[in-house]
Amino acid sequence: MSEIVKFTIDGKEYEGVKGQLLVEVAAEKGIYIPVLCHWKGVKPAGSCRICSVKVNGRFMAGCTTPLEADMKIENDTPEILDIRKAIVEMLFVEGNHFCPSCEKSGNCDLQALGYRYQMMVPRFPYEFERRDIDASSPKLIIEKNRCIFCKRCVRMIKDEQGKSYFAFKGRGKHLQISLDKKLAVTMSEENAHKAMDACPVGCILRKEVGFAVPIGKRKYDHVSIGTDIEKLNK
Ligand code: FES
Repeated sequence: MSEIVKFTIDGKEYEGVKGQLLVEVAAEKGIYIPVLCHWKGVKPAGSCRICSVKVNGRFMAGCTTPLEADMKIENDTPEILDIRKAIVEMLFVEGNHFCPSCEKSGNCDLQALGYRYQMMVPRFPYEFERRDIDASSPKLIIEKNRCIFCKRCVRMIKDEQGKSYFAFKGRGKHLQISLDKKLAVTMSEENAHKAMDACPVGCILRKEVGFAVPIGKRKYDHVSIGTDIEKLNK
């Protein structure tokens, strides 16, 4: 049987189910904790750290931390907001993200977080790492310059035998996402769309549908990321 425990977020008291992940508990209460690598129902990877919160004075990833009784969670503080902004900046300088020419512009979670945290000039130097674009699969284009290594595609897009279509190759600076060329040939339409939707940036693109939604009608043209959750709280 589930145990109900008390906890606070930014000083306000709530009740929730013990063991639930903090990002999901917060969302239920109408409080936005940003995520990039997390996807509800998929085993958390805890790789991007954009969901960082302070729990009883210590930094934790909200997507991998289960709720416990009497947790004091800090979410909306200048310190945490600046950490999240720094993470967004790091992701921008580590890859090559040219939003105006990206098919995912307006529907991209990284770009939306850049706006949300008012990123102007990143505090870190650009890496300008050169990575390939792989357009060899019949259904997908893999624009490796935009990968943020969230592993959503690796964890979520699998064939009927449970084999992942995506994997990481290389190490350190040379780490790159790759699509299994043999499996890609038989990839279903459903999996191709699922892969594109799972990607929070413009790295995995369905061929022949780029720029299908006009400017002004894209996901983040009218609401900023997390706004819907905040509305629930009012
Ligand atoms: Fe929690 Fe990425 S969303 S670490």
